[in-house]
Amino acid sequence: MDAAVDHARMNANTPPGPDAPAVIVIEGVWTVLDGNTIHRGIDLRIRRGEVLALIGESGSGKTTLLREMLGLGIPSRGSIRVFDTALQGSSQEEIKRTRRRWGVLFQEGALFSALSVYDNVALPLRELRALPEDVVRELVMMKLALVEIDAASATKLPAQLSGGMVKRVALARALALDPELLFLDEPTAGLDPERSAGFVQLVQRLRQELHLTVVMVTHDVDTLIALADRVAVLADHSIVAVGPLWDVVRVPHAFISSFFLGHVSRCKQSSVDDYRRALAPGLIRTEPMPVATTGTVTAANANREM
Ligand SMILES: Nc1ncnc2c1ncn2[C@@H]1O[C@H](COP(=O)(O)OP(=O)(O)OP(=O)(O)O)[C@@H](O)[C@H]1O
Ligand SMILES: [Mg+2]
Repeated sequence: MDAAVDHARMNANTPPGPDAPAVIVIEGVWTVLDGNTIHRGIDLRIRRGEVLALIGESGSGKTTLLREMLGLGIPSRGSIRVFDTALQGSSQEEIKRTRRRWGVLFQEGALFSALSVYDNVALPLRELRALPEDVVRELVMMKLALVEIDAASATKLPAQLSGGMVKRVALARALALDPELLFLDEPTAGLDPERSAGFVQLVQRLRQELHLTVVMVTHDVDTLIALADRVAVLADHSIVAVGPLWDVVRVPHAFISSFFLGHVSRCKQSSVDDYRRALAPGLIRTEPMPVATTGTVTAANANREM
């Protein structure tokens, strides 16, 4: 797709269509763990620039599939390609290069409890290459500002933060290396409705400003209504439906009916549009938005300057 057209589409807030380039291609994936078949022939194509939400019963294998997209688990059969790199069978160097292009917010939140907010966000920058500490500092403070964590909180330990702040710091860490692709596993789990809505708004803003592709696992209907361009449903060991929320809710399947029970009318396209407008009145724009990393040092260009 033409880059200018792509950019205009992003700013018009239109989800990428079926002809958009794929960032992740999952083909014929089977997963057997301890003799139990978790996935039985999963096929899924995640498009550049979309927010794809994965839903499914607890224990249906969502986290397991996410881990396979990250190369942390190996399918028993089938293949997963991310940015055109096969996660199985490519060289270590190639996989390492691919890993630098994504960020992850794990289900358990997972900040290091003994490290300050600052050091948690600095960790991926320090791990990856020898950046001078003043560059690390600039990058860390920039990422904290991006997720609306004030500079005074940088020296705090995770135990001194609220649940919503922990999620935002974990998001800052996931964004440390300027990823093109962001994985979120249950990003709003454990947050009260207000913090959950705040976090969702933040992800929506970042997604538009940074032109991210987002793969998100969630149990939360509000999060789906607010963010998802497409929803993929994992049930009976395979993907039983994939598409916009308003199409998926109408698919006759026992899990889908119970998941959306009482929410079907909120998932209509017009209701979803209204909800998004109400949640973030300033978000739907047609003018190009300022990109938060413009005019300042980013992890990528800091590396080039070294
Ligand atoms: N390392 C492992 N070894 C054996 N079985 C595993 C392993 N990891 C996960 N499982 C099993 O695989 C199944 C899928 O687990 P997974 O964590 O992917 O589910 P999930 O859909 O993410 O659930 P939840 O919604 O509760 O987070 C479960 O039955 C789990 O017990
Ligand atoms: Mg899980």
